[in-house]
Amino acid sequence: VARTERNVARCAAKGALLAAVCGFLHAAPPRAKMTCGTCHMREAATSPKTEMGIGLELPADQALLQAHPHLSFQAGGFSYQIDRKGEQSTYTVRDASGTLTLPIRYAFGVSNQTFVLEYEGKLYESLVSYYQNVGGLAITVGDERLRPRNLVDAMGRQTSRQEITACFDCHGTGGVKEGKLALDSLQPGVTCGHCHKGAEAHLAAMQAGQTAATPEKLGRMRAEDMSNFCGQCHRTWESVVQHGLFGPNNVRFQPYRLAESKCFLGNDPRIRCTACHDPHVQVVREASAYDHVCLGCHRQRNSPAAVAVREKPCPLGEKQCVTCHMPKADLPGGVSTFTDHYIRVVREGEGYPD
Ligand code: HEC
Ligand code: HEC
Ligand code: HEC
Ligand code: HEC
Ligand code: HEC
Ligand code: HEC
Ligand code: HEC
Repeated sequence: VARTERNVARCAAKGALLAAVCGFLHAAPPRAKMTCGTCHMREAATSPKTEMGIGLELPADQALLQAHPHLSFQAGGFSYQIDRKGEQSTYTVRDASGTLTLPIRYAFGVSNQTFVLEYEGKLYESLVSYYQNVGGLAITVGDERLRPRNLVDAMGRQTSRQEITACFDCHGTGGVKEGKLALDSLQPGVTCGHCHKGAEAHLAAMQAGQTAATPEKLGRMRAEDMSNFCGQCHRTWESVVQHGLFGPNNVRFQPYRLAESKCFLGNDPRIRCTACHDPHVQVVREASAYDHVCLGCHRQRNSPAAVAVREKPCPLGEKQCVTCHMPKADLPGGVSTFTDHYIRVVREGEGYPD
């Protein structure tokens, strides 16, 4: 303290504004509380703002519902309404028999959202969701065939313990402890420690001035291991096959689709998920940004046969390879669009290749 005061006094001699700055600096405790961002500034600056970093929104932070304070929709003889008042949105279902209104506790997703509602101590997945493609509400993907007969059924689908636990585990951090829901400690989104096991111990060690525990370098993963790592949440090839998740809906399971491509060589880092995606930043929407990845293996049409780059060139295109070879595909119903990671020559009228 004495040293700090002496420093502030020395600063003050140099002018009032500087004194204020110095006072602030020297008043800081000798070892300020560290976060990952103290040292890994690049990752920490962007990761929390990605869709993965957000994952789900709590009432006060529901940006999409703030931007759309009144939404309504009708289906199957029921009418739905979502209204924002202050820091809370409510979800209302009506039919001739009456009205059911519940607060929206959790909004899952970012640009498309499904709501998790609590009714009589049980958690429900809302029967209607917000879809960007529609610009409003529509029946939640997967629930199209349900035929609700009362207000509670029309409000949502009751989830099993196991199912709802899995929702919070993939979209949040700390909401599941030893396989059980622990929503008091839920942090929205996929945080650093969710992907980097051992990061908390590493932070604690750093804080204590030790360097012992360093998390594993995930950048060393083989292509197949990386697919399985991202596949914990984006679904692995095995889980798609095991659960028979075939047909046009599986376009959303990138690890499976990518593995179907002839390009996918399980031990070649040039085709792993992070060859195209930095998991700490928002997904890049510019098609030409991916060309260098393709051209890391495929020759350019007129280029002399290079030694390092051996695969066939394209007889047609020289840039924006993904626009033709990784086409966008809608889920049935068209509410949501994905990028087909099954890299291939797309033939007209070929149907959906599983
Ligand atoms: C005081 C600075 C500091 C803090 C705070 C810190 N790290 Fe580190 N971190 C390091 C250093 C230094 C290394 C070792 C880098 C090396 O060996 O090349 C490292 C290594 C890592 C690695 C292994 C990758 C690599 O390049 O070796 C990961 C992953 C990582 N940190 C994540 C985190 C996360 C997540 C947090 C927060 C929970 C965190 N770090 C907090 C300094 C820090
Ligand atoms: C702990 C679960 C989890 C893991 C592990 C995970 N993701 Fe995600 N990821 C998500 C969730 C949840 C979303 C959707 C977020 C949303 O819409 O709210 C998502 C979305 C994305 C998006 C779309 C973002 C956008 O802006 O549209 C990309 C790209 C992505 N993940 C890539 C990866 C990659 C690459 C890996 C592996 C390095 C990975 N993810 C690992 C949970 C995970
Ligand atoms: C195994 C991990 C996992 C589980 C379990 C899971 N999600 Fe997701 N969810 C993801 C990933 C990854 C994405 C981003 C890619 C996608 O949309 O398929 C996502 C996307 C979403 C989206 C955005 C939808 C869209 O069409 O873009 C919503 C909404 C959502 N999930 C809600 C839920 C709800 C509600 C549950 C539980 C009933 C749930 N999720 C369970 C991983 C998971
Ligand atoms: C969705 C999972 C995911 C999240 C969330 C995430 N990372 Fe990473 N991180 C990865 C992967 C995968 C790599 C390896 C990238 C590659 O292949 O080069 C990586 C790489 C790193 C590295 C370089 C060392 C290494 O492991 O190769 C550091 C440092 C790091 N991350 C820190 C952070 C910090 C800090 C946060 C939070 C602000 C964070 N990460 C959030 C998945 C994640
Ligand atoms: C060869 C490049 C490439 C590889 C490898 C790749 N992706 Fe992608 N990914 C893309 C492109 C291109 C997009 C679409 C970007 C846009 O325009 O929105 C995309 C989009 C996504 C999205 C957003 C939803 C969608 O389908 O549009 C997710 C999630 C995703 N990738 C996950 C993964 C995962 C997980 C892996 C590893 C199994 C992976 N990607 C490997 C190129 C790649
Ligand atoms: C790791 C190296 C690698 C990367 C990266 C790669 N490919 Fe390939 N690709 C291959 C291999 C190997 C084959 C199979 C070659 C053969 O059969 O002669 C192939 C085959 C293809 C085919 C023919 C598929 C078929 O069904 O006949 C197309 C089209 C293609 N790649 C496009 C692309 C595009 C576009 C990208 C970038 C988005 C890309 N590749 C990235 C290695 C790669
Ligand atoms: C305008 C759409 C388009 C673009 C852009 C495009 N391609 Fe192609 N590509 C095709 C079509 C169509 C074929 C099939 C040609 C045929 O078999 O007649 C093809 C074939 C291929 C093949 C298979 C060649 C063979 O001999 O089997 C590879 C590899 C390939 N493309 C890679 C790429 C790469 C890498 C890029 C970017 C540098 C790219 N393509 C850009 C449409 C495109």
